[in-house]
Amino acid sequence: MLIGANWKMHKTVHESVDFFRALAADILLDLDVEVFICVPFTALWALSQASAAAGGWPIALGAQNVFWEDEGPYTGEVSPVMLRDSGCKYAIVGHSERRQKFSETAAHTAKKVAALLRNRVRPVLCIGETWEEKAKGITEQVLVRQLEPVFPMLRTEDLPECVFAYEPVWAIGTGRRASACQAAEAHRFIRLLLHDRFGVEAGERAKILYGGSVTEKNLSELLEIDELDGVFVGGASLEVQSFSTIIRRCAQRGTEGS
Ligand code: 13P
Repeated sequence: MLIGANWKMHKTVHESVDFFRALAADILLDLDVEVFICVPFTALWALSQASAAAGGWPIALGAQNVFWEDEGPYTGEVSPVMLRDSGCKYAIVGHSERRQKFSETAAHTAKKVAALLRNRVRPVLCIGETWEEKAKGITEQVLVRQLEPVFPMLRTEDLPECVFAYEPVWAIGTGRRASACQAAEAHRFIRLLLHDRFGVEAGERAKILYGGSVTEKNLSELLEIDELDGVFVGGASLEVQSFSTIIRRCAQRGTEGS
């Protein structure tokens, strides 16, 4: 299981370091899961340093965005080289908040994914339909539209490094999680597209996470879905207690072999 957190625009540097320290103390048990947290850019380097000083916390660092060039005259942007240099292992691409509020297009996300892979940072590509698109019954077309421009950027050997987060826009921050059945259907469809494009073996090696109003209280039903490789958590990742409960539940699922 891969468990990701997206803090969005929350937490100062000190709050971030305190959180990582407390979470690391809480999950130091030998849990068979991988955890990453996508923090604001400002906290990356401090977290890297604090983790190294503590002997290495079992929490990978992620960023929430990236630019597609390695360097140059791009005021305000942060490059994949800089992310890697700051200790980042993951970076979100194409979150619906960026698509909707910052006009990020599928062509942009494709270039960002390529830039991350080139710099050995794992892309976490967010895809998902809006409520209107769901109501029209075009979820699958939307997923294809978001994935197709990215596929030419991927080589078969990149697939184990790729994370796809199915995040229905209507479920993000609304308290309205997709049902297990809806999530399973979308995950199956995404997996099928990967199989078609890259072959079954490579397609199986990418991770597909579910994101959108995941909490420690509504997790059990989701964990029963075979198609789920993990979860991507927003609001419920901001408190150590709720996020560590989610991590433990996911780890238990792993040991039950479901
Ligand atoms: P919430 O868990 O707050 O719905 O946010 C999910 C999300 O946007 C993860 O990227």
